[in-house]
Amino acid sequence: MTRKVLVTGGAGFLGSHLCDALLARGDDVLCVDNFFTGQRRNIAHLMGHERFEFLRHDITFPLYVEVDEIYNLACPASPVHYQFDPVQTTKTSVIGAINMLGLAKRTKAKILQASTSEVYGDPEIHPQVESYWGRVNPIGRRSCYDEGKRCAETLFFDYRRQHNTRIKVARIFNTYGPRMHPNDGRVVSNFIVQALAGAPITLYGEGRQTRSFCYVDDLIAALIALMDSGEDVTGPLNLGNPTEFTIADLAAQVLTLTGSTSQITYAPLPSDDPRQRKPDITLARQLLDWAPTTGLEAGLGRTIGYFRGVVGV
Ligand SMILES: NC(=O)c1ccc[n+]([C@@H]2O[C@H](COP(=O)([O-])OP(=O)(O)OC[C@H]3O[C@@H](n4cnc5c(N)ncnc54)[C@H](O)[C@@H]3O)[C@@H](O)[C@H]2O)c1
Repeated sequence: MTRKVLVTGGAGFLGSHLCDALLARGDDVLCVDNFFTGQRRNIAHLMGHERFEFLRHDITFPLYVEVDEIYNLACPASPVHYQFDPVQTTKTSVIGAINMLGLAKRTKAKILQASTSEVYGDPEIHPQVESYWGRVNPIGRRSCYDEGKRCAETLFFDYRRQHNTRIKVARIFNTYGPRMHPNDGRVVSNFIVQALAGAPITLYGEGRQTRSFCYVDDLIAALIALMDSGEDVTGPLNLGNPTEFTIADLAAQVLTLTGSTSQITYAPLPSDDPRQRKPDITLARQLLDWAPTTGLEAGLGRTIGYFRGVVGV
């Protein structure tokens, strides 16, 4: 029987790639999105597909459908978007999780939560392991996202303890690729858009701070592997790419791959700019037999190809 899979946030960056991958393996996909940060063009190529259905819906309201699996990705992911309406961000994480868990309970569906490395807050240990409880400010501007996602994790584990709901919790670290938002303030999309426009690329400090980014296809493979894993594998599992590069390296690669003549400019390092961000994915390697395989150059090349189409350069 064809699996019926619900993807909330399916018109977003990650959600649309997940819909592609699930359809490619033969699933029946119901994509739910309220288009807050999602875009029609992300799923335009799927409209008319015989196993794809789109429903415009806000997950803070109950949803009555029959499904076998639920991937709960709905939630704005970048600070500019989640701080735009912080109350709605918390509602999406918390009430949205309650609604989706209620649906999973009624339909006996398996349910996966797209959680985030931000549940670790401003961490005291590097890289972060799943057993670390985090250090999160409950009243700051980022709290609507960080605390909303933490509460969603609590709800997932309480539904498991109280109702035996089959849960999976993925803690996603920074991911990049085609269909990212051009203006969401993230460093990969910022550098690419600036390079394609010939605008200056700004490095903070000397650009020696390190980051690690996962290419979207690798991340989607991990989400599906987690959903397919045995029932004892609930997570939370860190998913991301631990390969580090400096911000200066990233800028240099973007300039080379775009052939841009943009100048690099320097600005003082902001006080809250982390020196290092990197996932520990030992558990995911062991439990899912998964590891990212796309290198930065290949991933950047595909992402730049996408942005050329979007900004027309
Ligand atoms: N991209 C990353 O690097 C990253 C890192 C950590 C966690 N995540 C998580 O992964 C998920 C997807 O992130 P993304 O990068 O694709 O972000 P995105 O903003 O592109 O996608 C989120 C989608 O959710 C939809 N949405 C928001 N609120 C909704 C609501 N109330 N009802 C229905 N739909 C709603 C948006 O319209 C959008 O299509 C999010 O939950 C995010 O927190 C992403």
